[in-house]
Amino acid sequence: MATPVESLDLPLIPFFGEQSREVRQAHMRTVAKESGLARTEIGYTVLTYDSVVSILRDKRWHSATGMAAQIAGVEDEKLSARRRVNILNAEGDVHVRLRRLVAPAFSPRSADRLRPFMREVVAGLVAPVLASGHTEAVADICEPYPIPIICELLGAPKEDWQLFSRLATDVLRIFGGNLAEEVDLIVAASEELDAYTKNLIAERRRKPADDLITDLIAAEEAGDRLTTDELTMMVEAVIVGGTDTTRNQLGLALALFAANPDQWNILRGDPSLAPRAVEEMMRFHGAVAGTIRFASEDIEHEGVLFPKGTLMSTSMGTANHDESVFPDPSRFDITREGVGQPHLSFGSGIHYCLGASLARAELQEALIVLSQSMPNLAPDGDAVYKPLAVGIFGPSRLPLRFTPAT
Ligand code: HEM
Repeated sequence: MATPVESLDLPLIPFFGEQSREVRQAHMRTVAKESGLARTEIGYTVLTYDSVVSILRDKRWHSATGMAAQIAGVEDEKLSARRRVNILNAEGDVHVRLRRLVAPAFSPRSADRLRPFMREVVAGLVAPVLASGHTEAVADICEPYPIPIICELLGAPKEDWQLFSRLATDVLRIFGGNLAEEVDLIVAASEELDAYTKNLIAERRRKPADDLITDLIAAEEAGDRLTTDELTMMVEAVIVGGTDTTRNQLGLALALFAANPDQWNILRGDPSLAPRAVEEMMRFHGAVAGTIRFASEDIEHEGVLFPKGTLMSTSMGTANHDESVFPDPSRFDITREGVGQPHLSFGSGIHYCLGASLARAELQEALIVLSQSMPNLAPDGDAVYKPLAVGIFGPSRLPLRFTPAT
C-alpha cells in the first residue's frame, strides 16, 4: 500500500522567496542529503539526481510549463485565450508527432553549419572592448550574442534583430516575477510575434531558402506535415526558447570562469577542451535550474501516492550537485574525469531540450573566442543577478576585466 504524500513529514523548500540563489541552493543541497523529496508552497519538489530523472522520464507526469499564470495566481482572460498546445507543454501522441517532425532540423550537423557564423558574431561583439581591458559582459556580449544566430538559423533579415530581441524578452516575462503587472505587455508581444512569424512563414512558402523555416515547412513523415499554426508555434518556441537561455548561460559561464582563473587558463591553453568546459559549466551552474510537472492521474511513485493534479518541481540545479553522481560536486573542473552521467541542465525525458546541439555549439564557440581574446579574466566589481523567481537565471550586470590587447 502506497503512503499518501500528505501524510509524510517533509522538509519545506519555499518555491517563492527573496533569498539569494547561493542561500537557496545551499539549503536545497543540505535537504537533498536527507530527503530526495520536499514540500513547496504549491506542491512538492524532487532534489536528487535519480529522483529528478525518474520524474522527468515518467510519462504520467505532464509538463506544467504552460501553467505559469495559474501557478502565479494570475487569472487573465486575454492570457487564457492565448493558451494553446506548444511543444514544451504537449504530451502523448501529440508531442511524439511534433518531435518526430521537427527533430531532424535540430541535429548536431545543422548546428555545426552555423559555427563559423557564431565565431564571427562573438568576435565582432568583443572587438570594441579589447583595447580597454574592461567589459560589462551582459550588455556587451551575452545579451546580443544569440539574436543574430537565431535570425540566421530562421532566415530572418538583419534589420529585424532588435525587434526579435525585444519580443523574445517580453514574451518570456511570463516566467518572471511580475506577471500581474506585465500581462498586457506579454499579450501584446505574443500577438506581435504571431503576426511577424506568420509573415515569415508565408514568405518562405513563396520562396524557399536554406534555413530552418524552409526545413520545417518541408518536414514530412509518412505524408504528415506541420500545419501553419504548428509551424508558427515551432518558430516561436525557437525564438523564445533559444535566446534568453543562451544569454544567461553564457553570463553564468563568464562569471564562473572569472572566479576560477586557473580554469580559464586551462581552456585558453587548450581550446579543444571547450566541449568539456561547456558540460562542466552547465553542470555547475545551469541557467534553467528547475522545471515543473503535474500528476495527470493518481501516481504511485517509489511507494508514495501523489493525487491527480499534484504539482512537482524538479530541481536540476540540486541534482547536478548530487555527490553520488558527481564526486566533489562543488569543485569546478573542466578536466573532470570519470563523469558517467550527463548533467540535467537541458532536462531529461521526452521534453529534453530540442536546441541542445545548437546551444552547445554557441557556448563552445563563444568560450573559445573569448578565452583567446580576454586573458586573465577577473571580476571588476559586483555582479548583479536576476531575481530567483525568474525561470531562467543569470546575471543582469557582469563587470569584468582582463589584460587589454596591445
Ligand atoms: C543554454 C541554453 C539552453 C538551456 C539551458 C535550455 C534548457 C532547456 C530545458 C531544461 C528544457 C526542458 C524543459 C522541461 O522539461 O520542462 C528545454 C526544452 C526546450 N528547449 Fe532549450 N535550452 C537552451 C537552449 C535552447 C535553444 C538554443 C533552443 C532552440 C533553438 C531551445 C529550444 C527548446 C525547445 C523547443 C524545448 C522544448 C522541447 C520539448 O518539449 O520537446 N533551447 N530547454
